[in-house]
Amino acid sequence: MQLSLLEKIGFSLMLAAWIAWGSNLIGNALVYAEPLQVAAFKIEGGSGAASGTAEKPPAEQAAGGSDISALLASADASAGAKTFKKCKSCHTKEKGGKNRVGPNLWDVVGRAKAGAAGFNFSGALKGLGGAWTYQDLDAFLASPKGFAKGTKMSFAGLKKPKDRAAVIVFLRSLSDQPKPLP
Ligand code: HEC
Repeated sequence: MQLSLLEKIGFSLMLAAWIAWGSNLIGNALVYAEPLQVAAFKIEGGSGAASGTAEKPPAEQAAGGSDISALLASADASAGAKTFKKCKSCHTKEKGGKNRVGPNLWDVVGRAKAGAAGFNFSGALKGLGGAWTYQDLDAFLASPKGFAKGTKMSFAGLKKPKDRAAVIVFLRSLSDQPKPLP
């Protein structure tokens, strides 16, 4: 059967439209894949070579107050062990150690706040919620009452960021699987 000229034109128009639609789909898929690759690269490398979202990480760090990450990276756990003498009267550090005036601190980094088994925490600490991040430990140890108003931890706080970083790195070491540093 012979196709009329009109039918041929109609058919090729349809074909053209179909190809255009199809390549549009493929084009979209390609364009979509591109930003994903860039994002994955940025997170891994952290170099932020390309514009846009690259500005985010430093801004987030700045929002956290003192730059705890840098301090932790250079902190000395053995100095922290010395600083921990100030905590010893109230806290044990051994795995399965007893609660004293304060709760046992084994594996406290990353643990749920007010999460030590068998310790009667104040409403202030129970009300905090979430887990002990490095940031929160830093803020709490700088000023327990400032961070958790009404806490029964009667401790003035460690004023020097370096002392806090050292003691936090020491607390981190009290674990079978120390959490990664930020
Ligand atoms: C005078 C006793 C005392 C001293 C000294 C003290 N703490 Fe505490 N600590 C407590 C008490 C009590 C709590 C429970 C607070 C509450 O329930 O409000 C606590 C709670 C904590 C918590 C939260 C534990 C959890 O499971 O949520 C951390 C972390 C902590 N102390 C770290 C330290 C560090 C580090 C030092 C030393 C730099 C220190 N404390 C010094 C009494 C003390």
